[in-house]
Amino acid sequence: MDALPRRRTLRWLAVPAVAALAAAAAVSLVTPAHAQANTLRDAAGNQMLIGVATAPQWINNQQHANLNAAHFSSITAENDMKWAEIHPQPNQYSFGDADQLRNWAAQNNQNYYGHTLVWHSQAAGWVQGLSGQALDDAMEDHITTVMQRYTEIEYWDVVNESVSDNNGQLRQSFWMNHPDGAGYIEAALRYARAARPDAKLCLNDYSIDNIGAKSNRYFTMVQDFLQRGVPIDCMGFQAHLIAGQVPGDMAQNLNRFKNLGLEVWVTELDIRMPVGNQNLQQQANDYQQVFDICYNQVGCTGLTVWGLHDGQSWVDSTFPEFDSPLLWNDNFQAKPAFNAALQVLNNGNPPPPPPSSNNPPPSSNNPPPSSNNPPPPPGGCSVNYQANNWGGSPGFTANVNITNNGGSTINGWQLVWNYTAGQSVTPPGWNGTVSQSGSTVTGVNAPWNSTIPPGGTVNLGFNGMAASVGNNPNPTSFTLNGTPCSS
Ligand code: XIL
Repeated sequence: MDALPRRRTLRWLAVPAVAALAAAAAVSLVTPAHAQANTLRDAAGNQMLIGVATAPQWINNQQHANLNAAHFSSITAENDMKWAEIHPQPNQYSFGDADQLRNWAAQNNQNYYGHTLVWHSQAAGWVQGLSGQALDDAMEDHITTVMQRYTEIEYWDVVNESVSDNNGQLRQSFWMNHPDGAGYIEAALRYARAARPDAKLCLNDYSIDNIGAKSNRYFTMVQDFLQRGVPIDCMGFQAHLIAGQVPGDMAQNLNRFKNLGLEVWVTELDIRMPVGNQNLQQQANDYQQVFDICYNQVGCTGLTVWGLHDGQSWVDSTFPEFDSPLLWNDNFQAKPAFNAALQVLNNGNPPPPPPSSNNPPPSSNNPPPSSNNPPPPPGGCSVNYQANNWGGSPGFTANVNITNNGGSTINGWQLVWNYTAGQSVTPPGWNGTVSQSGSTVTGVNAPWNSTIPPGGTVNLGFNGMAASVGNNPNPTSFTLNGTPCSS
């Protein structure tokens, strides 16, 4: 069974199709009307998975089922894959409900999203009572068993909500009784990679949609994982939001994770409104904003709403002061928010697919061997290095433009510079690969970015860390394929 839309492949194929359409339009000098799709999944096409949280009881509701199949290209089990549901006793797994959802997804050509393997909440009592090696054994068995049963599931929330709301500190849950303490997170990721080398491994949390202490903690954690080769492929932003409070820096925040080489999901979107003060237009504006961020500004792999209609939502019981957070109302009537979301997808202008999709995954980010350097560029080169420091943090994002001032094409490039203030780069970077030895950094072209024609410029981007906040002087001398460049 293969329920996964082959998004990557389709996305690449879609480019020539669009180019052909554009060419046809140019010849006939007629601008084709933009085809307006009526469903979310059709409007998103192959650019982004559109998901919904669901459960067997809802699949059995005809109104939910119709809308679910029509509008969504991905489903997440709202509860049925959580430990207490799927593994209630040490030697007893209970797959029935998760299997029903798998069948539904397959019948409707939907992606099935794995939520969630390791979480402090909705965990079976027996596992909460374990510690030390017994907890590690249980975790490994659980991850392996569940992941190897649902082999069609590509994206997994391997660890859910591991950071607390207290200034970015790790959550003090029973998982800290693991023999590695806080290392349980990377232990879980390693078990997941071993169980399913083909799967995409995500961390997922709420209140990390903005730049703040909690998301910064994840950012540092993920950077560290990438540097040390701990397997991590994606970041899930739950986005349980309040109307009127979409964070202004949400796109910037998601993009900094994307720029690390991760795929990005909005995993549990809902936008709740105060009971008795329901501003449907405000809510529509907010949905429009989040869909726009994810679809157009970030290029999320997927966006999942946490339930289909207001009558299904967890919000009523969890936040009694709020309700009505979803796209359809209690009677399954589409709300203004639905139309706003559909409009974003229909009019969208998503970013191109990341060039990194042809590169090795971020966890194996060694640059190509540098032994056979191409010859020095004839005629010289110039380099423009710019670093943007992140406010209040030693992190920075650098963009380096390399211009060929010579009269012949450069085929393959390697740029070397030295840092003078203890800065470090975070491999792999984008549009090329960076690596560091001592204070010396080497940037090597990506396979698709190897030629610089005479007068042409290529870009190399990466994130890095200064030794302390604000202490990030630009390097002043560069060599390209062994020859000094002006800067
Ligand atoms: C919620 C479900 O929607 C509820 O039905 C259940 O009672 C509690 O959990 N973060 C998550 C989700 O990762 O699994 C939670 O789902 C909502 C918050």
